[in-house]
Amino acid sequence: MKAELQGIKAEAEDELRRIGSPDELETLRVKYLGRKGILSELLAKIPSLPAEQRPEMGRLLNELKKDITSRYEGAKTALLDMQRPKAVGPVQDVTLPGRRPPLGHKHPLIQTIEDIKDIFADMGFQVAFGPEVELEFYNFEALNIPLDHPSRDDFDTFYLKDDVLLRSQTSTVQIRIMEKQRPPIRIIAPGKVFRPDTVDATHSFMFHQIEGLMVEEGVTFGHLKGVLALFAQAYFGPDTRMRFRPSFFPFTEPSAEVEISCSLCKGKGCSTCGSGWMEILGAGMVDPNVFKAVGYDAEKYTGFAFGMGVERIAMLKYGIDDIRLFFENDMRFLSQF
Ligand code: DAH
Repeated sequence: MKAELQGIKAEAEDELRRIGSPDELETLRVKYLGRKGILSELLAKIPSLPAEQRPEMGRLLNELKKDITSRYEGAKTALLDMQRPKAVGPVQDVTLPGRRPPLGHKHPLIQTIEDIKDIFADMGFQVAFGPEVELEFYNFEALNIPLDHPSRDDFDTFYLKDDVLLRSQTSTVQIRIMEKQRPPIRIIAPGKVFRPDTVDATHSFMFHQIEGLMVEEGVTFGHLKGVLALFAQAYFGPDTRMRFRPSFFPFTEPSAEVEISCSLCKGKGCSTCGSGWMEILGAGMVDPNVFKAVGYDAEKYTGFAFGMGVERIAMLKYGIDDIRLFFENDMRFLSQF
């Protein structure tokens, strides 16, 4: 009979483990623990056993009953757990105001380029682009920059191989456009330029420039002054004054450095400008040698060109004292724009 009890125990455990529904569980309960169940029947047999076996059998049967009962209770709790709807996270109060995800925005340099672009677009200038990896011809020769010019030195330009380099100025786009188009031409060309400079507060090995070029019959220095004055007043404010200082660039003749009255101190002199004047760009009338390089008739057409550094313009406008801030991806800086 002992062996029989052990068989019943194993069978009951096995069946209880496989319970899948309350109905199955109830059937099992009746089968083992019910009034006419297996255990009750065994209990009823005890009086017919030899007297000396009765206490031992009674004890074993009681143990078995306890065991099956507790397993039955366990299975019942597990079943209830399975049927209870799963928690769906914290209760949502749909009447609360929403939480806005943080929104990014354009980098201040891109914003600066777009602001400048918009001003020139109003004056009929189109945006043009050229490659960052350039041929010496476009970066130097066609721009009338002689072989012995210091900027052609390895120390001043990143050469990739032989006559291939990273452009050191966006003036290259003047040539690329004039090669493809006949006048009238009015373009501005924003983009990256590269120079092997040691990085400090005012230098970076990569920065941005915007080149401008206007070529038509009858373009004069007066047009250059007018266009740049309109730009300076639109970008830096209506009372901005401008002055031209004679300078030299190989691709313009005459050439000038253009300064505006400081937009931060209104020309009084401050830590950003020093003298009250800030140099914002180089400019001049297109040198006839440049027209020759692209096959334009220098007797028929005249034009002006200018080039400005985007970082420098943004630094002057916003009073930023370190160019590295543009490239460090520090949100404390970027989120101010
Ligand atoms: N390319 C010159 C530079 O990188 C800037 C410049 C000066 C461009 C005078 C011009 C210009 O078109 O006329 O320093």
